[in-house]
Amino acid sequence: MHETKTSRTSRDEYVQRLQSKLFGEPYRGASLAKFKCDAFEKGTDVKILNWLNKKSGFLMFLGGPGIGKTYLCAAILDWIYEENYPKFSVRYRDESQFFGELKDGMSKGWSDTKHVEYISDDFFYMFDDVGSDSSSEWSLRMFHHFINCRIRTGFPTVITGNLTKEDLYNKFTDRTYDRLFEKSNLIIDCHGASSRRTGILYPERIK
Ligand SMILES: Nc1ncnc2c1ncn2[C@@H]1O[C@H](COP(=O)(O)OP(=O)(O)O)[C@@H](O)[C@H]1O
Ligand SMILES: [Mg+2]
Repeated sequence: MHETKTSRTSRDEYVQRLQSKLFGEPYRGASLAKFKCDAFEKGTDVKILNWLNKKSGFLMFLGGPGIGKTYLCAAILDWIYEENYPKFSVRYRDESQFFGELKDGMSKGWSDTKHVEYISDDFFYMFDDVGSDSSSEWSLRMFHHFINCRIRTGFPTVITGNLTKEDLYNKFTDRTYDRLFEKSNLIIDCHGASSRRTGILYPERIK
């Protein structure tokens, strides 16, 4: 069935409202078409698209502030609704929201591990800014549990962070690190990439 102009407009408005609510107003209208990655290693665009279409495992996107980590999450949200709506459930949290939510639950007497399981079963999960907030023994344990839950589902998970691979190696236990950087995952490490952005991921928005 062909999409009508009205249904496209209402779909676009819906996604843009969601982007503004989840990521903030500057990310309204983000899309893979506008995600610039020519400053990254050659072929990054194709790798991201292949990973998205595979719909399993982890995409680790590491890089300094302003490189587009949150923007990529907002653009992937648009892609999810473009390609797959309404089949998949999707959840986005940055690290402080993730732990804030768990602490709220604990103050109501909820089990932290059960809570992690409860909030980890969406099809698509985007965890933004890993390592930005806390690095207590508890938060590392909760994050490890989260990773295990995602591995168990086999569903796709995007993890972004400002830290380098080496920082993450020092921060996490070997088991967490090995799982995140397993060969089958896509690792995009943009530390050192210049902030010059002129390329585009898609030549034009998919209609
Ligand atoms: N690769 C990119 N492609 C398109 N826009 C980008 C890119 N990187 C940064 N931007 C723009 O810069 C702003 C800040 O990027 P952001 O995604 O918040 O960076 P980070 O989360 O890595 O700190 C975004 O709102 C976006 O407009
Ligand atoms: Mg960010």
